[in-house]
Amino acid sequence: MNDFMYYNPVRVHFGKEAMGRLEEELAALGTKVLLVYGGGSIRRTGLYDRVRRALEDTGKTVWELSGAMPNPRTEKVYEGIDICRRQGVDLILAVGGGSVIDCAKAIAVGAPAQGDFWERFFKNWEPAQEGIPLGVVLTIPATGSELDQSAVITNWQTGEKNSYDSPFQFPRFTILDPTLTYTLPKNQMVNGIVDTVSHILELYVSPPDGENLTDALAEAALRTEIGAARKALEDPRDYEARANLMWVSSFALCGMLNNGKKTDWASHCIQHPLSALYDVAHGAGLSVVHPAYLEYICPQAAPRLARLACRVWDVDPSGRSQEETAREGLRRLKDFFWRELGAPSTLSQLGIPAESVPRLAAGADLSCWSYRPLTREDVEAILRSCV
Ligand code: NZQ
Ligand code: ZN
Repeated sequence: MNDFMYYNPVRVHFGKEAMGRLEEELAALGTKVLLVYGGGSIRRTGLYDRVRRALEDTGKTVWELSGAMPNPRTEKVYEGIDICRRQGVDLILAVGGGSVIDCAKAIAVGAPAQGDFWERFFKNWEPAQEGIPLGVVLTIPATGSELDQSAVITNWQTGEKNSYDSPFQFPRFTILDPTLTYTLPKNQMVNGIVDTVSHILELYVSPPDGENLTDALAEAALRTEIGAARKALEDPRDYEARANLMWVSSFALCGMLNNGKKTDWASHCIQHPLSALYDVAHGAGLSVVHPAYLEYICPQAAPRLARLACRVWDVDPSGRSQEETAREGLRRLKDFFWRELGAPSTLSQLGIPAESVPRLAAGADLSCWSYRPLTREDVEAILRSCV
């Protein structure tokens, strides 16, 4: 096991009654609140009214930033920073999914800092010195943003999608009520499941390979996610299934599954240009890219992928070479993503033409890898296998 530092300060309220804890959390923080939300789902579901009531009952003065879009853009962050600076906002409340939360996180560190948040933080990775406190009500299990210190923002002008980590981006509290996810359209639920599986694989498919608690937890998380996904697809109002989907996605990025591992993230680095240039939903892009990446590194990662095949996909290794076992596991992963979930399998299904492969490859961060370093030519080859 590698050395590690583990830290996660987020207070989590989980379950059917979790929304009941919102007022008590709000009472302890700030008086001037920026409420950040997306394109309107929270208005349609009635969640907006519940949140506004809690804000009123705790005596807050509230400004709103609505329309935080999937693959949130710099413009929305600038809008929020401007409100925070002008009004002296001292608490940000994000109600929505990863896009809303990431937008709120970038505002939280961008508003108190001098200068341009994109240049300083998302481009040049300067450590932030402070942040406006942030609270979260999650409505879609997917990104883990509700429990981590990362934000991912798209700069539409430059065609970049960059991530930034800061301890000031950890939420102070997160409310996880699985019943809030009953209203998700199927494709959004599927995007979230693919993203969650992808996060666990980014951490698990990396050295060291010896027996350790982190890998055992990752295997349990994958099995739980796959089982819950099947149940939720069958019955979208299956509470236990929704509860497991929500907790696994948060747990995946709370830091526990990083402990002692190198970690990879190449699939995410290859996927980000797809969203930056074609506004592809994050989970949909991963459904295409992640299996292709694992096939590509299979010769170098065969022992690890064979273990994944046996322990997660129940592949019987007898009569198979290690690499054959690994590839049978990958076949079952694809079958789960593409046939069972109905997630996309090719770039063309995402509306991305084959000619764009060199440009997409040029935008991928090559610093992330696990079992073999990647060149731009490697990324091109991976993307070409997805056409
Ligand atoms: O905008 P509204 O109207 O709210 O609708 C949203 C949105 O259209 C809808 N939705 C959310 N909850 C709903 C609902 N519709 C009905 N009922 C509900 N309960 O779902 C759509 C997608 O929402 P979005 O927030 O974009 O999804 P997701 O949570 O997958 O977030 C994706 C973003 O997070 C980033 C991605 O790159 C992408 O930009 N990521 C953030 C990470 C992090 N901070 O750690 C890590 C991830 O790897 C990822 O990169
Ligand atoms: Zn992701």
